[in-house]
Amino acid sequence: MRYLVVGAAGHAQEVAWSLREQLAARGESAALLFFDDQVPPGPLPSGLGAVIGGFHLLHEQSWDGAQLVMGIGLPSTKVAVAQRLAAMRLPWATVVHPRALIGPNVEIGEGGYVAAGAIVTLNVRVGRFGTINMHCQVAHDDVLGDFVTLHPDTHLAGCVAVGDRCEIGAGTLVIPGVTVGADAVVGAGCVVVRSLPGGCTYVGGPARDLAGRAARRAVAGGPVKVPLSRHAR
Ligand SMILES: CC(C)(COP(=O)(O)OP(=O)(O)OC[C@H]1O[C@@H](n2cnc3c(N)ncnc32)[C@H](O)[C@@H]1OP(=O)(O)O)[C@@H](O)C(=O)NCCC(=O)NCCS
Repeated sequence: MRYLVVGAAGHAQEVAWSLREQLAARGESAALLFFDDQVPPGPLPSGLGAVIGGFHLLHEQSWDGAQLVMGIGLPSTKVAVAQRLAAMRLPWATVVHPRALIGPNVEIGEGGYVAAGAIVTLNVRVGRFGTINMHCQVAHDDVLGDFVTLHPDTHLAGCVAVGDRCEIGAGTLVIPGVTVGADAVVGAGCVVVRSLPGGCTYVGGPARDLAGRAARRAVAGGPVKVPLSRHAR
């Protein structure tokens, strides 16, 4: 089996390493081929495989029988990549590191990734292309939409719903029963104590809307900064 890893930066290599461990636990091995527009072709220092070239090569050659691996961590970039490669009609691998703990009645959608040290307890649904990074905790009855990314050490209590394409920053805590609306960005270290509308960026504990914070400062006569857009991946 050949696996075509989309991306070759650090996160992609972590996903590929997890895949290699997953296969090894089943007594299997596979060739890992990496594709990236920004990382130069050649062997990777991690020894996991080599960068073959840019994304265009995925379209220009036949890769029959191979599986794609999502090596991108940011929701918006995952959406763009999945759309761009949909025409290839290849399956996306679901990667679960063997040192992740997955309980009963858990569904991890196509293209998903669960990293080493993550715990997903029971009765959990994770949509397509979910990213559950190192040491995340996803508790009972949580529902995560498509393209959601939980950065390392995110802790979701039970009965939490996270909408499509949300990005939850490293070390965030979410208390039981709240909903985070689609396309929300929750900054690193947030404490989410009530449901958050989608499409906004939140920081702090309790988590507050960054744009609203700027507006409140303006009313109070303090310095106003317009939040900058995020980096590309
Ligand atoms: C919240 C976040 C998305 C905001 O990014 P941004 O839009 O580029 O915002 P900026 O960096 O311009 O910061 C805007 C303001 O918010 C504050 N801020 C940013 N992130 C914050 C956070 N996590 N907690 C508290 N305050 C934060 C900044 O200090 C700044 O405040 P100021 O106006 O008083 O100077 C980003 O900072 C973040 O936390 N991302 C999470 C990434 C992550 O966890 N990655 C893990 C990879 S392994």
